Amino acid sequence: MAVERTLAILKPDCVRKNLQGEVLARIQKAGFKVLGMRQLRLTQQTAGAFYAVHKGRPFYDELVGFMSSGPCVPIALERENAVGEFRNLIGATDPKEAADGTIRKLFADSKGENIVHGSDSVENGKIEVGFFFSGAELV
Ligand code: RTP
Ligand code: MG
Repeated sequence: MAVERTLAILKPDCVRKNLQGEVLARIQKAGFKVLGMRQLRLTQQTAGAFYAVHKGRPFYDELVGFMSSGPCVPIALERENAVGEFRNLIGATDPKEAADGTIRKLFADSKGENIVHGSDSVENGKIEVGFFFSGAELV
């Protein structure tokens, strides 16, 4: 299996609930290496660009509003099969459907406010890591 990179974002609900450390500990215990990490607040424009693939969907405006509602923590991660393994770790989009023990099942309140983002393909993992980090910031 190949070593891959994936982008996690600890979403504004995670930061508001002061769960950054708890969620990061679970990510690290699952064998992910942190290559880059920062805290920032997305503008509506930047949040909209990051989730541009969902433009036109009924939940898009709510998603953009939520993702720009407070600070978030993008984290560039590396591991074997990182994209798939990270999706397994966070669970289904809707915490009601997420498997027991997954981060969203444990900590998320709703499908809209679901604690953490994970890239959905190897190609998007590369693109999304590049959205937040320059090459020199990945160490
Ligand atoms: P993410 O991109 O944040 O990791 O989430 P995901 O792949 O599990 O889900 P995706 O389909 O990419 O949707 C992106 C985010 O939009 C919000 N959403 N709300 N209310 C709804 O029906 C709905 N559907 C999606 C969620 O915050 C989801 O994580
Ligand atoms: Mg997605």
